[in-house]
Amino acid sequence: MTTPRKVYLETLGCQMNFNDSEVMLGLLQKEGFEPVENKLDADLLIVNTCQIRGSAEDKAFSHLGTWGKLKAKNPKIKIAMAGCVAQQTKDGIFKRAPYVDIVFGTQNIHELPELVRRAFEGNNRVLAVDRQKPRNTYDYLTDVAPRRENDISAWVTIIEGCDYFCTYCVVPYTRGRQISRTPESIIREVFQLAAQGFKEITLLGQTVDSYGKDFTDRHYGLAELLYELHEIEGIERIRFMTSHPLDLTDRIIDAVAELPKVMEYIHIPMQAGDDEILARMRRGYTSQQYYDLVRKIYDRVPNAAVSGDYIVGFPGETDAQFQRTVESVALSGIHNANSAAYSPRKQTPAAFWELHGEEIPEAVKEERLQILIEAIRAQSLKKNQGYLNCEVEVLVEGKSKRNPNRLTGRTRSNKVVNFETSLSEDALVGQLIQVKIQEALPFSLIGQMVLPAELSQSAVLSGAVAP
Ligand code: SAH
Ligand code: SF4
Ligand code: F3S
Repeated sequence: MTTPRKVYLETLGCQMNFNDSEVMLGLLQKEGFEPVENKLDADLLIVNTCQIRGSAEDKAFSHLGTWGKLKAKNPKIKIAMAGCVAQQTKDGIFKRAPYVDIVFGTQNIHELPELVRRAFEGNNRVLAVDRQKPRNTYDYLTDVAPRRENDISAWVTIIEGCDYFCTYCVVPYTRGRQISRTPESIIREVFQLAAQGFKEITLLGQTVDSYGKDFTDRHYGLAELLYELHEIEGIERIRFMTSHPLDLTDRIIDAVAELPKVMEYIHIPMQAGDDEILARMRRGYTSQQYYDLVRKIYDRVPNAAVSGDYIVGFPGETDAQFQRTVESVALSGIHNANSAAYSPRKQTPAAFWELHGEEIPEAVKEERLQILIEAIRAQSLKKNQGYLNCEVEVLVEGKSKRNPNRLTGRTRSNKVVNFETSLSEDALVGQLIQVKIQEALPFSLIGQMVLPAELSQSAVLSGAVAP
């Protein structure tokens, strides 16, 4: 391509999608594209989509609708749809939104430069949604510099797809079967990140603790990877998410307990508190097994925080079954959870049950969701109150969005901490510091930075102290 072009990218969905978008922008920058903040400036518009619930899918099409109108005024614009909706709907996208030029799937990201070239040169529609690949997408991307959101904390996708096929979930259809990325490729990327000054990495996967189960040439899992990554100098914090309760082995828990750089935070969704619903969701564990697992984590890693996800209004869920989900929040001892109303997804067994008489009315789903959110809020507040008057280690990220007089960061257990300090943002971003917690809110902590005597002295001398 001769003239540099401008690309606008909108991302919906989970962290894996955000990481994929960073890679897409990295690939396009190599082709001479410049990322822009304003869609009106762009020659290429991309929406990276999520299909987990109907609302996410609607958002994708609403962006396309707006962009279709832009294209009516400026036909030279090219519009692309990526991600999970593209993967599942395939050329159906062209029927629903005829102004779309490129549809590419979750495992075709490495082909993006070629697809874009074809769209701009040939003026034809381009479709790439096949999944005939023998390797993990990220194994194809050896010399790409993803365009990272910030320069402290980076996402690193280590496993794609999912083999679980929970009865409500679309992910195995949109992301395909589980494919782990080779440790060599992951370690290479993390060395690069360390050399670039990144301090924290988050290993990503829909079932990140299943990492390595699909290798046929070696016995190597998440625990082994954590031990290897821990040796990389410069990286100070390692996180991983999302874990599946069935794959969180003792070896992984040991790695969290033993490795100082591996954070004491495990996101491991329970989804429901009732055994019959869990069985119908095909989760593979009972509520008691989940409680035992969380207890084991807390026994082995006393400072750990476990968080989760829940679905309410699953087909056929009775009031009593829902009540067991509410009770599970406190019984399990989790620190926090995401929750959502069940949304029927094409191809999944639960959507069939919903269609055949087991649908929970929207109003009931909404009412249950509010009750659950309240229970989670109370539990999270209770857990956060446990931090009062404690000193915690925080990795500083920048200014707080709500209160520019405060800086913000996260504890090892992934709690957001907003804190006051006399030091400037520039002096602290990317640093690990100690904060004394003075106030606990349901979803964040407020504190004061504890200034070590020598830092206080040198900061004053170097002029880093804010006026
Ligand atoms: N792999 C993770 C979850 C990935 S999807 C796990 O197994 O726990 C992220 C979250 O979206 C899920 O935890 C679930 O709570 C929610 N979710 C998935 N499908 C859904 C659906 N059909 N309706 C509502 N929420 C859903
Ligand atoms: Fe979906 Fe997670 Fe179940 Fe996989 S394990 S099917 S991603 S909910
Ligand atoms: Fe959504 Fe796909 Fe992630 S469906 S949650 S973007 S894997």
